[in-house]
Amino acid sequence: MQSFLFYNPTKLYFGKNQIEHLVPELQNFGMTVLLVYGGGSVKRTGLYDEIKSCLIRAHMRIFELSGIEPNPKLETIQEGIDLCKKEKIDVVLAVGGGSCIDAAKLICVAAKFDGDPWQIVMQKVEPKEALPLGVILTIAATGSEMNGTSVISRRNTKEKYSWSHILAYPKFSILDPTYTITVPKDQTVYGIVDMMTHIMEQYFHRTPHTPILDRMCEGLLQTIIETAPKVVKNLEDYQARETLMYAGTLALNRSLSTGADGDWAAHGIEHALSAYYDIPHGGGLAIIYPQWMKHVASFHPKRFSQFATRVFQIDSNHKTTEEVIHAGIEALQHFWCLLGAPSRLSDYKIDDTSIEKLVAHAMKRPLGKIKLLTAKDIRQILLSSL
Ligand code: NZQ
Ligand code: ZN
Repeated sequence: MQSFLFYNPTKLYFGKNQIEHLVPELQNFGMTVLLVYGGGSVKRTGLYDEIKSCLIRAHMRIFELSGIEPNPKLETIQEGIDLCKKEKIDVVLAVGGGSCIDAAKLICVAAKFDGDPWQIVMQKVEPKEALPLGVILTIAATGSEMNGTSVISRRNTKEKYSWSHILAYPKFSILDPTYTITVPKDQTVYGIVDMMTHIMEQYFHRTPHTPILDRMCEGLLQTIIETAPKVVKNLEDYQARETLMYAGTLALNRSLSTGADGDWAAHGIEHALSAYYDIPHGGGLAIIYPQWMKHVASFHPKRFSQFATRVFQIDSNHKTTEEVIHAGIEALQHFWCLLGAPSRLSDYKIDDTSIEKLVAHAMKRPLGKIKLLTAKDIRQILLSSL
């Protein structure tokens, strides 16, 4: 294991009716709130009305930024930053999924900064202050509700990059699985793929002797594998929704990175892809991740065969290590396929026309710990995903 510091400052309220904590938590920071939400699901589900009536009853001043896109765009986020500065917002409340939360994180930090917010995304400046952020999560997927990461796209350059900072952690997050019952099947599946991939990104590392992390990752993956088909079969299965919601949070609240540095290369490639084609992040991962595994497994075969035998119970008797690894990757692909996830770029009608642009965007940051990827590696992974 490596030495580590684990510090997660987000207060988590989990379970039914936890919205009762909303007003007291917000009022720890002030009376003027900016509500940040997406394209309308919060209105259709009635959550918007519920939140508004809580805030109105508490005599809070409410401003709103709606229309945060999946793969949130800097141009929309800028409106939120301007509102915070103009209206002297005390606290930002993100209601939605990773896209709303990530947008709100940048709003909170950039509201206290006078330069171009893209400099924060590109990690050219160090944030010094931030507005406090509260979250009401409505979809189980990214883990953004309990981490300091935000992933932002820029429309004009078709780029998408992540940035992380301790100031970007939400002060509190309210996770009521009831709110996720309305997530449609496709988005539910993208969320499942995303949370599984987060665990695997941290599982595939080069640090020796990480028995606790290994078992935490394997146990969480197995729980998701048991639960996901239940949700896909019955979107209203509360207990299964509850399990997935907690799994998504644990998958990326950094507890699985205590003592080892995960790979994360597939995420870098997928971000280039979802920025360029505006496809859902989980859909892109379902395509890229198995191809990344095939491409790099020979650089750390022990780890990939352990994944196959422990997570998918591949029988290693009478098989070479390569055969075990291959069977593990096939089992993962098969599992995602059964859930209804895409498996080829052609499922999104993406061909090889823009591959060089994707390679260039992905190469802007070093990618990979199992293998540091070259432009040639990224090109091959993309080509094998067509
Ligand atoms: O926009 P609305 O109308 O709200 O609809 C959303 C959106 O269309 C819908 N939805 C959410 N909750 C719903 C619902 N529909 C019905 N009922 C509900 N309860 O779902 C759609 C997707 O929402 P989005 O927030 O985009 O999904 P997700 O949580 O998967 O977030 C994806 C974004 O997060 C980034 C991704 O790259 C992508 O931009 N990521 C953020 C990470 C982080 N901050 O740690 C890590 C991840 O690896 C990821 O990169
Ligand atoms: Zn992800």
